[in-house]
Amino acid sequence: MCGIVGYVGKEQATPIIIEGLRRLEYRGYDSAGIALLNASSIHVVKEVGKLSALRSRLQKESPVGTTGIGHTRWATHGVPSEVNAHPHHDCTRSFMLVHNGIIENYTELRQELLDKGHRFVSETDTEVVVHLIEENYSGDLLRAMLSSMRRLKGAYAFAVIAAHEPDTIVAARCGSPLVVGVGNGCNLVASDASAVLSHTRRVVYLEDNHAVRLGRDNLVVCDIAGNEVEPNVKEITLNLSDMEKAGHPHFMIKEIFEQPSLVADVLMRRIPPTSREIDFQEARLQTLGLDRIRRVMMVSCGTACHASMVGKYYIEEFARLPVEVDVASEFRYRNPVITDDTLVIAISQSGETADTLAGVREARRRGAKVLSLINVEGSSIDRESDATLYVYAGPEIAVASTKAYTAQILALFLLALFLGRKRGLLEEPHFREVVKELRLIPGKMQSVLDNHEVVKICAHKFSDAPNFLYLGRSYNYPNALEGALKLKELSYIHAEGCGAGEMKHGPIALIDDTFPVVCLAPAGRVYEKMVSNMQEIRARRGILIAIATEGNKEMAAQCEHVISVPHTHEALSPLLTVIPLQLLAYYVTTMKGLDVDQPRNLAKSVTVE
Ligand code: F6R
Repeated sequence: MCGIVGYVGKEQATPIIIEGLRRLEYRGYDSAGIALLNASSIHVVKEVGKLSALRSRLQKESPVGTTGIGHTRWATHGVPSEVNAHPHHDCTRSFMLVHNGIIENYTELRQELLDKGHRFVSETDTEVVVHLIEENYSGDLLRAMLSSMRRLKGAYAFAVIAAHEPDTIVAARCGSPLVVGVGNGCNLVASDASAVLSHTRRVVYLEDNHAVRLGRDNLVVCDIAGNEVEPNVKEITLNLSDMEKAGHPHFMIKEIFEQPSLVADVLMRRIPPTSREIDFQEARLQTLGLDRIRRVMMVSCGTACHASMVGKYYIEEFARLPVEVDVASEFRYRNPVITDDTLVIAISQSGETADTLAGVREARRRGAKVLSLINVEGSSIDRESDATLYVYAGPEIAVASTKAYTAQILALFLLALFLGRKRGLLEEPHFREVVKELRLIPGKMQSVLDNHEVVKICAHKFSDAPNFLYLGRSYNYPNALEGALKLKELSYIHAEGCGAGEMKHGPIALIDDTFPVVCLAPAGRVYEKMVSNMQEIRARRGILIAIATEGNKEMAAQCEHVISVPHTHEALSPLLTVIPLQLLAYYVTTMKGLDVDQPRNLAKSVTVE
């Protein structure tokens, strides 16, 4: 939700800031802006729309300066417009500020500032902050920021420049991510490390309620009370080349096709060929006191929540622990029963999702140990959990999650096996048999991908349908929800996912001869039940699209379109059946000419409630 970048150094800041914003555009893309400090004047350029619009404008009026800040917006308060775009300024245009997050008490602060004579121009919550800084400024921007922070409620990351303070950026955070890039003769600040990586691998993850003053060659970090704090500089290992499209037309298709190698790499790391156990060494699982755990609660949002649902089936099956799955936005505001034998598992690709992070804090406040499954190392949830299992999906740039979902399911499967072994419930022969099948998954995923033309034909046939229904049972029920989510968020076609057994309790009323129903029907315990539900759709002339196990002739006879996946252990089938669902959403969306990597209204990292 909004990306912020700042640069202070010796080079022209505009191209550096724009390159950083390009890396952060996944966080929001309804408007963008930049402010450059040159001597004691500040030049601001803002534009509605994607970053490309700002870029074109900058070709005509290129602001000069070696200190600057930039922003790419996902609107919360106020429509996407030039006046609501960041940076925002005070009454005298002496301060320029970019913000990611939400200021909850902005109405009351705005009134207070209006009463003091401040003039507001935008509809945003952000504008109060820059006026507060103006109000609190007496020659020291860092002090003015700290005083202002003490008045704010909500979540924020800021970067601000001042006309009277050359070669200086002040930044602060509380609840929204912010990383400082420590360069050579320059310093940067950004919403995530990808935006500073072209300049430095040395970073400081700013803590909540801390602020930093960046000069070209120095940085000073303070807590909210104004005490100086020693910055903890870390080296990051990300690769910039992993963040490019590598010849693919979109990030999404690149990421879909990366799934077999991702699974192979994770297996190599977690169960090397000579190993008989799962290696979770880096995760510090011993800090969780797993021996006394009698119950698991999972907290996550969106696609990560669908992965949690698959994880519930795994942990119940292999480790015989009861599991509850909650969407984080509900978990945090109800009164969950958490006892000291409850393990809370938080799942998040970005590690920054505001609701999931709040769930982690709430669970810990109530005394639970929290294990997180995270993709982005160093993210807020990573840092605030008792233990973290990295899912190792690599950078996921497309807004719609694909490979991170697969990596989360895989991590949960391995965790369930690990717990099953630890609890003495999974005998070695059974464990070995499952792992043997698991090692075949990358090859089987590849053969699903090799068959992508079949999915493309299906997309072509049905891309004009206004509605879709997705059905699945057991391990594939969460995939039905995930398939529907992928299609609706990318193609804007209305789609619903449903447990196949639940269909007759309502959704079946939707079925007619125009309604495509995607049925996940791989071989397994519930296959026959799935077939019965498909018959019910057929009897009402619904259009059946099946994802079924190779060689299944029954499906070919009954369905309009069949997409085959190789045979596997039924618990592993979601890793195969999800690929056609991802491809279907991708092809339908590209056939409609829509922006598959940056769908409307969305952002990848949801750092507001
Ligand atoms: C959908 C999607 C979202 C995310 C959700 C949680 O394709 O990507 O539903 O899964 O916003 O994000 P993370 O996993 O970063 O917490």
